[in-house]
Amino acid sequence: MPMRIRRMRADDAFAFLRVHHAAVRELAAADYPLEVLEEWAPLPVTEAQVAGVQRNPDGEDRFVAELEGAIVGIGALVAVGSELRACYVAPEAARRGVGTALVGALERAALSKGVAQLVLDSSLTARRFYEHLGYEVLTRGEHVLGSGRRMACLKMRKTLESN
Ligand SMILES: CC(C)(COP(=O)(O)OP(=O)(O)OC[C@H]1O[C@@H](n2cnc3c(N)ncnc32)[C@H](O)[C@@H]1OP(=O)(O)O)[C@@H](O)C(=O)NCCC(=O)NCCS
Repeated sequence: MPMRIRRMRADDAFAFLRVHHAAVRELAAADYPLEVLEEWAPLPVTEAQVAGVQRNPDGEDRFVAELEGAIVGIGALVAVGSELRACYVAPEAARRGVGTALVGALERAALSKGVAQLVLDSSLTARRFYEHLGYEVLTRGEHVLGSGRRMACLKMRKTLESN
């Protein structure tokens, strides 16, 4: 079954968090201390976390990637801030083009809203991925997690080209 990218629905919120947490805890584990991983992807996934995702206070445009009917990747865009907010892929589906397909969907959504340039806070883990997709590192920085804890990141940018 081919990969499918579609808009996220409210009832995907638990799967959204499951993919996010697995990606952080397995794929990013080598790049960050345990305290950061624990706050970036707190377990267990609670009803409150699910409700928080469903509230979507920043008005994120969200997409999910499905393989064989299962959600294996998530992506989010905050068009108002020209921000690529999130891209996470489940470890079992990594390096199969899922992240690339999600970023493509986010870039098309951005262009459709008149956003011609995207910025993002890349994890140290995802730097090569975003560079592969044409994003350039502007500076090293810190990303502030919802808990207030800071984690090292790379501020990146890409000018989008409409085809
Ligand atoms: C970063 C991430 C989204 C990449 O997703 P993915 O589906 O595995 O990426 P793709 O298969 O589309 O990779 C496309 C290309 O990016 C590069 N790339 C991807 N992951 C890479 C890695 N870990 N190391 C080096 N290059 C990488 C490669 O050039 C790859 O092409 P190749 O597989 O033919 O060599 C995924 O690894 C992830 O979720 N990481 C942990 C969470 C995270 O840090 N997310 C970003 C938050 S800002």
